[in-house]
Amino acid sequence: MAESMSRDTIIEALKGVQDPELSRSIVALGMVKGVQIDSGEVTIDLEIAGAAPGAREKIAGEVQSVISSIDGVRDVQIRLSKPAAKSASFSAKQPLPGIQHVIAVASGKGGVGKSTVAVNLALSLARAGCRVGLMDGDIYGPNIPMMLGVSHESKPRVSENDKMLPIEAQGIKMISMGLLVAPDQPMVWRGPMLHGAVTQLLQKVEWGELDFLLVDLPPGTGDVQLSLVQTVPLSGAVVVTTPQEVALADVRKGIAMFRKTEVPILGIIENMTGSIFGSGGGEKAAAEFRIPFLGSIPLDQNIREGGDSGNPIVAAAPESPAAACFARAAQALTQALNPTAV
Ligand SMILES: Nc1ncnc2c1ncn2[C@@H]1O[C@H](COP(=O)(O)OP(=O)(O)OP(=O)(O)O)[C@@H](O)[C@H]1O
Ligand SMILES: [Mg+2]
Repeated sequence: MAESMSRDTIIEALKGVQDPELSRSIVALGMVKGVQIDSGEVTIDLEIAGAAPGAREKIAGEVQSVISSIDGVRDVQIRLSKPAAKSASFSAKQPLPGIQHVIAVASGKGGVGKSTVAVNLALSLARAGCRVGLMDGDIYGPNIPMMLGVSHESKPRVSENDKMLPIEAQGIKMISMGLLVAPDQPMVWRGPMLHGAVTQLLQKVEWGELDFLLVDLPPGTGDVQLSLVQTVPLSGAVVVTTPQEVALADVRKGIAMFRKTEVPILGIIENMTGSIFGSGGGEKAAAEFRIPFLGSIPLDQNIREGGDSGNPIVAAAPESPAAACFARAAQALTQALNPTAV
């Protein structure tokens, strides 16, 4: 019966089709732009950005076969397109008033030093005279408060218009999920709640005027990262990686997520350069993916101790060589945002 084959049936079936690079549903990735059904003839609009060679055709082929096998479908038409001008996709997102640039700090995998880089970049930008905010987007393992020496006891104040006021620490404004929930409370949020939490956190904070809001993303390319990159008007993303060859595969995944969601990648930072990890992987990745290389940060015990003790290296020893590396990366980041500026 034609009735049994509803739009929902088609969407449900499309949820089973995954993007080969991200291993995520094309529906979750927002690639399905339209479904029309006309007496058994199904037309599907797919909008696929920045896919690897052959990936678009692979997705289209899979959609074709999945939909044709549904009862009642006589014919499947697939209309493939690339996203229109960037401004169109940006306007769909809710801007954050008063904030010049929202920048995600991301990585394909955990433990590469993303939070360390986010904190020290934020401090470097502040030292250069910018107004900086830092949002801890890691809902499961928020550790920015600890890194900035902010106690779990401190709770953001609420303003008269019912917005949260960020905590001020070491010259930057900061908000973290870690301050909104008790540390011993397990967080079992999934899907929509998680999405809501992240979006709410960003929209509900009274940041004031900022030049930069850095968002420390949790590792990987899961729901939180996706909801963030789809709802916030990001100026771009910085991808942090370690120097090893094996890290390349993770970088590729991170980059694929941003390309697909039309978020410009501002550059790669290589962290933990030197020692057993070697060096050069970040620069190689930058060349391979044709994105700017923003610099490398050495593996340095002082960097680790600074983070662990709530006294990040850029604040604790601004003249140290390691702090200078963060300052250079911060400058390269500003440059990447504004390539024509002198
Ligand atoms: N350049 C560095 N030199 C020495 N230690 C570092 C460096 N960068 C990070 N670390 C240490 O490595 C550990 C992991 O760093 P961090 O928490 O910043 O990583 P992450 O990518 O944010 O991790 P997660 O994926 O869990 O969020 C921390 O103990 C940190 O102090
Ligand atoms: Mg982290």
